[in-house]
Amino acid sequence: MSDHHITFHAGTVTREDREKLLGQKGLVVWLTGLSASGKSTIAVEAERVLCGMGRAVYRLDGDNVRFGLNSDLGFSEADRMENIRRITEVCALFQDAGVIVLACFISPMKSMRQVAREKAKPGFMEVYVKAGVEVCAKRDPKGLYKKAIKGEIKEFTGISAVYEEPETPELVLDTEKYSLEECVRKLVHAIIDASSF
Ligand code: ADX
Repeated sequence: MSDHHITFHAGTVTREDREKLLGQKGLVVWLTGLSASGKSTIAVEAERVLCGMGRAVYRLDGDNVRFGLNSDLGFSEADRMENIRRITEVCALFQDAGVIVLACFISPMKSMRQVAREKAKPGFMEVYVKAGVEVCAKRDPKGLYKKAIKGEIKEFTGISAVYEEPETPELVLDTEKYSLEECVRKLVHAIIDASSF
């Protein structure tokens, strides 16, 4: 970027100052998993519970962000990488503000999740919201699997595009085995643990 003639201008208020003000540590909670695995449902409920506990928390969701900031991006591997790169930058800003971010993105490649982890550290938690493609296709709340199987949606994760399972996530929430309440309880517990002084 040296050809753009820009210089980073640091402030005097630090992340630690803001965290002290909020009484919590900034955290990026990265929920990955197939479409319909339960990422958004779990995050909506966890956000409500954490807010009720007095935590400053903000949810970023794949579908929502694609209406605005990332409305120019599709689902090719390159576009998904750019989607995640931008989100990662947004997450880092929230984290620097001392906030707990719940980021719900399929983020199908390990390399994409690695970008998020590298940008956010320290204070990053990868959460694998686990449900197999057969179960997700059966749930199909938006009717997208049906369309993808018919070939009406190209490059659909789990059907015609790859999903690389996380190997060493900090937390696994198996939504085939556990109820929404149980998954939220586990997630909130881990977040309180990681964001407390
Ligand atoms: S990511 O792969 O770039 O991380 P993101 O989480 O932002 O994906 O968006 C996923 C959401 O977009 C899905 O929940 C679904 O509603 C919608 N979607 C539309 N087309 C696709 C597709 N080809 N693959 C996966 N999800 C898609």
